[in-house]
Amino acid sequence: MADVILKNVRKSFGPIDVIKGVDLEAKHGEFVVFVGPSGCGKSTLLRMICGLEKITFGQLLIGNEDMSDVEASERGTAMVFQSYALYPHMTVAENMSFALRMAKTPQSVVEKRVKRAAEILQITHLLDRKPKEMSGGQRQRVAIGRAIVREPKVFLFDEPLSNLDAELRVQMRVELSKLHNEIGATMIYVTHDQVEAMTMADKIVVLRDGVVEQIGSPLDLYMSPDNRFVAGFIGSPQMNFLKAQVVDGTNGEARVSVPDAPDHILRIPLREGAQVAPGQAVTIGIRPEHFLGTPGGAGLKVLVDVVENLGGIAYVYGRTNASQEVILKAESETPPRSGMAVTALVKDDYCHLFDDQGRTLSTSAGAIRTRAAAA
Ligand SMILES: Nc1ncnc2c1ncn2[C@@H]1O[C@H](COP(=O)(O)OP(=O)(O)OP(=O)(O)O)[C@@H](O)[C@H]1O
Ligand SMILES: [Mg+2]
Repeated sequence: MADVILKNVRKSFGPIDVIKGVDLEAKHGEFVVFVGPSGCGKSTLLRMICGLEKITFGQLLIGNEDMSDVEASERGTAMVFQSYALYPHMTVAENMSFALRMAKTPQSVVEKRVKRAAEILQITHLLDRKPKEMSGGQRQRVAIGRAIVREPKVFLFDEPLSNLDAELRVQMRVELSKLHNEIGATMIYVTHDQVEAMTMADKIVVLRDGVVEQIGSPLDLYMSPDNRFVAGFIGSPQMNFLKAQVVDGTNGEARVSVPDAPDHILRIPLREGAQVAPGQAVTIGIRPEHFLGTPGGAGLKVLVDVVENLGGIAYVYGRTNASQEVILKAESETPPRSGMAVTALVKDDYCHLFDDQGRTLSTSAGAIRTRAAAA
C-alpha cells in the first residue's frame, strides 16, 4: 500500500500531446476514480502509472519512490483490464497463480494466496474451471483475483465492469467497494460511468482533453463544480442549463432572470470574489431534483414532452416557453402527464451560475447547508 503522486506529468505520442500536465495524489488506501469522456487520457494515465507506457515529462512517485525508470514488474502495481485477458487453456487457479509462479514464489505461498483471494471473491468452487466455462462476471472476478494474489501496493482498474450487464455491474460495484474496505489497498479506477464514480470513489479526478478539470470528493464535485463541464458530467440525469441574464449583483448575490420566465427573478449566492454586471449573459445550472413543483404563480413554465416513471421517482422531460430543454424530478405518485403545462419553482440557492467561459460564479448555498445538516 502506498501513496501515488503525479507531478506535472505529460505524455505525447509523436507530435500529439495527450496528457498535458497532470498533478494528482492518491493517498495510501484511497479509492481514486478517473472519469472523463472517451479519449481524454484516462487509460494513458493508468498505463503510465503501472509502467506500460513511458512518461514524456514530469514525475511519478509510488510510496515516495521515483518510478519513472522502474520496470512495470517492479512497481508494486497490478492492473485489471476491461477485457479480462485470461489465459484460455489454464484453469482459474492456474490463471490466478501465473504471475507468482513466474516469480518463483514458493508453492505453499502461492496456494495460500490463491485460496484467500478465491474466498474473498467467492469463486472457490470455480478454481478448476477454464475461462470458457464461466460467465462474464465470474471471469472478471478471476481477473481481479489475479491482481489480489500479487499483493500489490496499488491496484489499477481500467473500466473493469464495462463488459458486464447492468445488474451484474451494480453487484460487482458493491463487491469492489467491499474488497477495498477489506484489503485497504490504494486503488485507482478508470470509468466513464459517472454513477460508478459517485458511488465508489473517495476522490474523483475529472479529466478532459488531457487536463484535470477538478479533483474532489463525489459530494464536493456534485455540490460545488468549478465549471460547467464538471457540473454537466457529474450527476444523472444531467444538470439543466438555461440561458439567463443578470439583473444586478450586490451583497454577494446575483439577481438573474430567465428569458422564458421574466417574472421569476432568481437570487443566486455568489462565490467569494465573483463579480457580475447588469445585462451580463450567464447560464443557470439547476439539477432535476432542485425544482419545487407548484400549481401556479411565478415560476418556469414547462411543457411536458415525456415522463419516465421509475416507480419511486419520475423524471419529466419538457421544454420551456423559449424551447430550452429541461428535466425535472417529480413524485412518481403524482407526476404530470405528457402534453401538460406545469410551473416549476426553482430553488434559488441550489442554483449554479456560469459565465460565458463556463466558469462557476455561484456557491450552491442550499446544497452546502443540506450537507452540513447531514454531517
Ligand atoms: N499509442 C498511441 N499512439 C497515438 N495516440 C494514442 C496512443 N494511445 C492513445 N492515444 C491517444 O491518446 C488519447 C487518449 O487515449 P486514452 O486511451 O488514454 O483515452 P481514454 O480516456 O482511456 O478513452 P476511453 O474512455 O475511450 O477508453 C486518445 O486521443 C488516443 O487516440
Ligand atoms: Mg480507456
